[in-house]
Amino acid sequence: MRKPGSVFAVAAVAAALSACGQSQSGQDASNSQAAASAASGTSAATQPAMGEAEKKALLASYAAPYNQADLANGEAKFGLCRSCHTITPGGANMTGPNLHGVFGQKAASKPNYNYSDAIKQANITWDAQHLDQWLADPKGYLPGTKMTFAGLKDANDRRDLIGYLMVETGFKP
Ligand code: HEC
Repeated sequence: MRKPGSVFAVAAVAAALSACGQSQSGQDASNSQAAASAASGTSAATQPAMGEAEKKALLASYAAPYNQADLANGEAKFGLCRSCHTITPGGANMTGPNLHGVFGQKAASKPNYNYSDAIKQANITWDAQHLDQWLADPKGYLPGTKMTFAGLKDANDRRDLIGYLMVETGFKP
């Protein structure tokens, strides 16, 4: 427990040095926030999960038709990918590579993943349009790929899944 007098002295010294009184109190506030979330058992130590409102706002910022995506259906369709892919930041490569940050990234650029020659030579930068074609028919789009996924034929399901992937991988337009 600090005595009120010593807090005042610290603030006064900090202010005298270069007006750091503000950041001193800001730090105290974030420390107590961290303590509060640790106490409530959340994993805020790594990265706070996005809330529903934040996800909706992010989705609304995307170009059509992705701003119309049904995230619940997208999440359900991601069930088709989950056995081979993680989407969390730094998630493991499994049969397929981790997909975090895939939007705006060149195909076959995750380190420590052994891609097929077909995708390494494809010279694609992933965006919603390329993903839409890829997910409709991976082997038709990139003959020789080792992604053994039959394809998602319904265009609305692809829109929903891509919208979901954009939000979950933190894509900012
Ligand atoms: C049976 C396993 C499997 C399933 C199911 C699967 N994938 Fe893949 N995926 C792979 C493999 C393997 C690769 C690497 C392809 C290569 O090297 O040719 C890959 C590659 C990818 C890539 C390219 C990543 C990069 O770094 O360039 C994307 C994007 C992708 N998958 C998305 C999906 C989505 C979305 C789904 C669900 C609709 C899905 N995949 C389903 C195995 C799978």
